[in-house]
Amino acid sequence: MDFNEPAGSNVFDDERVVGQRFTRYDGPPKVTGTAPYAYERNDAAPDALYGYPLGAGIGHGRIVSMNADEARNAPGVRAVVTTLDIDPLEKGMNNVARLFGGADVMHYHQAIAVVVAETFEQARAAAAMISVEYEEGEPADLDLDAAFERVQGTGEPDTLVGDVEAAFADAAHVIDNMYHTPGESHTMMEPHSSTVDWSDGEDMTVWTSNQMINWNHQSIATTFGIEPERIRVESPYVGGGFGAKLWLRADAVLAALGSRAAGAPVKLALPRPMVMNNTTHRSATVQRIRLAADGEGRLKGIWHEAASYCLPGGRGENATAQTPLFYAGETRRVKNHVVDMPLPETADMRAPGEASGLMALEIAMDEMAEAVGMDPVEFRVVNDTQVNPSNPEIPFSERHYVECLRRGAEAFGWADRNTTPGGTRDGDWLIGHGVAGAYRGHLVLPSGARAILDGGKLVIETDMTDIGTGSYTILAQTAAETMGLPYEAVEMRMANSAYPVSSGSGGQFGAPSSTSGVYAACMALRARIAETLGIEEADFADGRVTGGDVDMALSEISEEVSAEDAIAWGDFQQNYAMGTFGAHFVEVGVHAYTGETRVRRMLAVCDSGRILNPITARSQVIGGMVMGVGAALSEDMALDRARGFFANHDMASYEVAVHADIPEQEVIFLDTLDAAASPLKAKGVGELGLCGVAAAVANGLYNATGVRVRDYPLTMDKFI
Ligand code: MOS
Repeated sequence: MDFNEPAGSNVFDDERVVGQRFTRYDGPPKVTGTAPYAYERNDAAPDALYGYPLGAGIGHGRIVSMNADEARNAPGVRAVVTTLDIDPLEKGMNNVARLFGGADVMHYHQAIAVVVAETFEQARAAAAMISVEYEEGEPADLDLDAAFERVQGTGEPDTLVGDVEAAFADAAHVIDNMYHTPGESHTMMEPHSSTVDWSDGEDMTVWTSNQMINWNHQSIATTFGIEPERIRVESPYVGGGFGAKLWLRADAVLAALGSRAAGAPVKLALPRPMVMNNTTHRSATVQRIRLAADGEGRLKGIWHEAASYCLPGGRGENATAQTPLFYAGETRRVKNHVVDMPLPETADMRAPGEASGLMALEIAMDEMAEAVGMDPVEFRVVNDTQVNPSNPEIPFSERHYVECLRRGAEAFGWADRNTTPGGTRDGDWLIGHGVAGAYRGHLVLPSGARAILDGGKLVIETDMTDIGTGSYTILAQTAAETMGLPYEAVEMRMANSAYPVSSGSGGQFGAPSSTSGVYAACMALRARIAETLGIEEADFADGRVTGGDVDMALSEISEEVSAEDAIAWGDFQQNYAMGTFGAHFVEVGVHAYTGETRVRRMLAVCDSGRILNPITARSQVIGGMVMGVGAALSEDMALDRARGFFANHDMASYEVAVHADIPEQEVIFLDTLDAAASPLKAKGVGELGLCGVAAAVANGLYNATGVRVRDYPLTMDKFI
């Protein structure tokens, strides 16, 4: 289906199913423990053996020799494959270091062997018997501050508008500060896991935990050099992803190699202590932000330069992603640097770019509001823009940032806060209030589905994943709405490479893209049914199709009818800047004697176009808010600079926030529609909910204490 202009009137205008509060389609199997996760495919591979990985014990260098004889002879062991036993595998999409094969070590815990045994304990015990002789590489400089000093001011700016230095020279107010965000780990509940059957070395079935079935499918084919037709990938239940599972990782590769070697299906989960160093993470960033404003608080110059790290060829973390677009201002200079470092790979983590960038920019906005002497909400309102400030010919399709700020201020009781830092006390606790803006880009990817009507039941097949976000639910709603059927009449079949290719789950594009694909498939099915019945203008409502002389229940159509389609989005989208917007308000407490920090109350107001399901959307946003509190207060990958190794590689020492840490969370969705954003006029919310949260906490802690901290995490030692 081609959409060549903004979606006008369509079947969704009288929201009957879409937009309603349905609880999770996949809730019952998940909460009863019957949902088959990748490591638990006893239904499909009941006799699977256990795989256990061995990771490299150096940060970079090469393997001189490996001795696996003892492991091979250990009890219960059925196969051992070491990295020296096979030629290096090709790299799949976005894999920067090889996932297996060859003598080179590019990062700590890069997989160098897999042991397959009859029990998990046997496999783990045997893996410890493999001895490895390494030749370590030259010590590497892993100091990102020093790297920033070296690269600052070099290279062409990514965005350069107007005479920035002149704007700073003339400004009534200037701020110029450095900000630091640490490396972050996705820390999803379910680690990277796969069960793979490649027993015959020919056809491969991969039950895995992945966000993007098609990318994964293609990457497996590339990695092993086999035809995609020989591979089936299934990922019906994913216990959290946050970007960690966008790309093929070592779990599936090792399980496949182990399965081929043992001649039996093999299951393998990366042990939690390996996840941080073996897989990907969000790079730390160093950011310098300079802002210039006139006496009325209008921004005149915005200068943002950032650095992050990656292995050569990687993308790092673009902390400047939002800066060209978020605020008005005639001049700006934006530059992002990615420096090479031999550390575990950095790649996407929830709201890659904006999540880190807004941690800095939204503190800077708070600082400038104070410098100008304005309320931080009003300061942001004054600097709103309805066009791309770097290219004023391009308007935002829909942008209701000001309304987010105003609605939030009203609902939160912002006007009652004490504007004097350190001025409010509740017993031993200093109380503060903070606000920050949220921005995250909007993207729609091509997405397809198949719709099958069979005796009044509607089956939807698509390779779309549900990573805990509610995709099953909103796709069933979309299909029911489009076909004029009740929600209960829809059966969802998802996340299987045998089904039509969808957008997958990432970049908060999943909801607007995959619902559009299901909409297109159902519209194709409507056309097929109308054609079958000889109706020119068919209407689908209340489980019936009507038109011409026909008025019949869909359940009366005796033959199975099916149709497949995908969305293609027209060029008109390029005439708009598109994004999602929000405002976060927090109340924090800081213990006056210990410096202990607490988030007492949070409110988010979100502008994301049509909200497809208020329950699943709210869950996404409050989950993002919790994650933002972790980013603000505790999350920090502790780098051992001598070894290139993240030392706190488990959930005891890498602390994430949980819902129970925050007694009160509220979310308000603006009731907007964005006709240019997607056929359903919807945008994503899953990443927006995280953006800006940490800065709101930082600004609240400043208001509570009078101590301005620009170095995350905002631990108690920094407030003393
Ligand atoms: Mo998202 S970081 O694209 O899963």
